[in-house]
Amino acid sequence: MTHSAWASNVKFENGELTVAGKSATELAREFGTPAFFLDEDDFKNRAATFVKAMQNAFESSTVYYASKAFTCKEIARWCNELGLGIDVATGGELEVALSVNFPVDRIEVHGNNKSLAEIDRAVSVGVGCIVIDSIQEISRIAVAAKKHGKTQSVMIRLNPGVEAHTIEAIATAHTDVKFGLSIASGVAWEAVKEISKHHELDFRGVHAHIGSQIFNMDGHRLTIERMLDFMARYRDEFNRELPEVDFGGGFGIVYTSDDAPLAIDDAVAQIKDAVVEGCAARNLKIPKVAIEPGRSIVGPTMFTLYEVGTTKMVHLENGTRNYISVDGGMSDNIRPGLYGAIYEAHLANRISNAVPTASRIVGKHCETGDILIRDIDLPSDIAPGDLLAIPATGAYNRSMASNYNHVPRPPVIAVRNGAAKVIVRRESFEDLLHLDI
Ligand code: LLP
Repeated sequence: MTHSAWASNVKFENGELTVAGKSATELAREFGTPAFFLDEDDFKNRAATFVKAMQNAFESSTVYYASKAFTCKEIARWCNELGLGIDVATGGELEVALSVNFPVDRIEVHGNNKSLAEIDRAVSVGVGCIVIDSIQEISRIAVAAKKHGKTQSVMIRLNPGVEAHTIEAIATAHTDVKFGLSIASGVAWEAVKEISKHHELDFRGVHAHIGSQIFNMDGHRLTIERMLDFMARYRDEFNRELPEVDFGGGFGIVYTSDDAPLAIDDAVAQIKDAVVEGCAARNLKIPKVAIEPGRSIVGPTMFTLYEVGTTKMVHLENGTRNYISVDGGMSDNIRPGLYGAIYEAHLANRISNAVPTASRIVGKHCETGDILIRDIDLPSDIAPGDLLAIPATGAYNRSMASNYNHVPRPPVIAVRNGAAKVIVRRESFEDLLHLDI
């Protein structure tokens, strides 16, 4: 079975892409290119599906949207309306949420190197939870809580020593990463003891995030086992059960038809089974359960629309390759360059019956590595002025965009029911020059 990388309201009619009733040609004329178009209903459905699945699975739950995947004021408003929480990893992401009066009790603060200013801001506005990622951070949060006369809820980020991307979910004795506090080394337990010395801190539970773009739940299941072991040890030694647990994000999505992710309901059902069985086996009460999906909410809901500028047939030893240059590139999608991520692209403005030919989609930056798609067969008659669309660019594309070569970053336009509205406007040259002295 092949899977679609397109947002649910994208269709091709007579060769032309439409999203929620707006055609690619219309959208390009109205908003310019390159631009990110977001299927608003698809975003809201995906977010609501996570919330409903978690509510059905557990008596008490929170779905924190991992805002690093993509955030802006409108996204934060939607998350609020739909009853999600927001996971922020920096002071900047926190400010986006605060700017729309996002309920602070549903904000969770992450970061392996939270600055004193970030901690102070988070504590002073009263965020629901800070997830501790180092021993040093514990006293920093306690100091801030004392200063503001508050008790701060905290969790600790465990490193469960689970390799998420191998199907066998291999446990590694030493995990060579900057995130979390290792269970195996004992440092996580040290953190628990340290937290207990600070009465300004309310220790709520444990968190783990084992990786991203994961296609099966083996890693999560092993992680859940180890986290529940940790919680049982805590119960035995502190005579109190931790009321909360958070399993992070990481659920995979379709980028190309080779990708076969789990449905949201199936992923949540597997988490439920692991938690229910694991708690029963350890005689633990089922805690409040949180997850933090980012990519799997926003990723599939956007596509990037580019205009073709130049094409160049390059002669190789054993054939030719059509280099198709578009009006964006590594500044709006660094993922192919950074991670070797693979995308699909489609001609979006017309039907072509020309023979598919070996092509490479490249950007406009002064760098050979500015490649969006290394190998793709596209119609040989693709020409300047054509529109190309790349699906599944909602997560970690606009949020990781840069101004390399002083290229202004593209806008994000939400489309719903035949109407399109800008939710992040296009950067201008004026914006770019604004910071220069
Ligand atoms: N929670 C925590 C603590 C995380 O670190 C992350 C992602 C998430 C949740 C959300 O994970 P997701 O559901 O989106 O997989 N820039 C990379 C992805 C980095 C993910 C960082 N942490 C990319 O473009 O693939």
